[in-house]
Amino acid sequence: MSENKKPIKAGIIGWPISHSRSPLMHRYWLEKYGLDGSYDPLAVRPEDLEQILRGLAGQGFAGVNITIPHKEAAFTLVDEADDAARRIGAVNTIIVGETGRLEGRNTDAFGFITHLHETLADWRPDRGHAVILGAGGAVRAIAVALIDAGIGRILIANRTAKKAQQIADDLGGTIDVVLWEDREQALAGAGLLVNGTSLGMVGNAPLALSLDHLPQSAAVYDIVYAPLKTALLEAAEARGNPVVDGLGMLIHQARPAFEAWFGAMPEASAELRDLLLADIDGDPA
Ligand code: ATR
Repeated sequence: MSENKKPIKAGIIGWPISHSRSPLMHRYWLEKYGLDGSYDPLAVRPEDLEQILRGLAGQGFAGVNITIPHKEAAFTLVDEADDAARRIGAVNTIIVGETGRLEGRNTDAFGFITHLHETLADWRPDRGHAVILGAGGAVRAIAVALIDAGIGRILIANRTAKKAQQIADDLGGTIDVVLWEDREQALAGAGLLVNGTSLGMVGNAPLALSLDHLPQSAAVYDIVYAPLKTALLEAAEARGNPVVDGLGMLIHQARPAFEAWFGAMPEASAELRDLLLADIDGDPA
């Protein structure tokens, strides 16, 4: 009678890994949905990544998340990659197939856009261009998400302009690069401003940005979540702009991965948000 099913094994690979909040989220969901599984942090040095990925099937893993600094390397190592992973050039989720094949996915774009729609139900991509600050891996995912949402124009400003240009070259015609010094002028007529840099995060320099040119109706989204209410979001709120914080992107990117391994699409509940906030308050780094 007994099905004798083994617990489903998943985890997250990074270097270092001790600060990852993913175990907290996935373990919360496993318990909430009464599923028999595990989710563990795995500290893996860059030089060991390939061997560890190749060994996942033998170790009985259903899959893993991939985080800093391995997302781009993992993309080159998987056997197949989904459309988002290919366009972003990075993998944050791996599913181990029955034959041991590694399927790479990227759920960061989903996390970004789902949290935007959830927070601001009436945000539309046709109410002005988007201005994105930064040009790291997160911004690549954000640009893909906004292109897929149907936005007509994206302006990317980054301290190192050539990294922004690379994203524009890779992702096509909707993106134009503006100089970092010109970021404030780029806000005129915008419908969305995204801080995709690490500026404003606990321990980092603040983001220097006047919002004077930004329409009051424009949404302001900061992917920094420690602190949750960044100086940018405070300034935006003070002048009446709708704001979106960075925590929901973290939560929503985790949901499709959990579903792929454990079989249930988990909820981004207020209780989980509070759990994460308490953890971030205790250790904001
Ligand atoms: P991720 O891949 O997670 O997005 P990242 O690649 O480290 O992270 O990107 C951090 C972003 O913050 C980059 O766009 C970086 O600008 P550079 O490409 O010029 O390095 C930006 N950033 C970090 N410190 C900055 C600073 N002091 N001024 C302006 N931009 C900064």
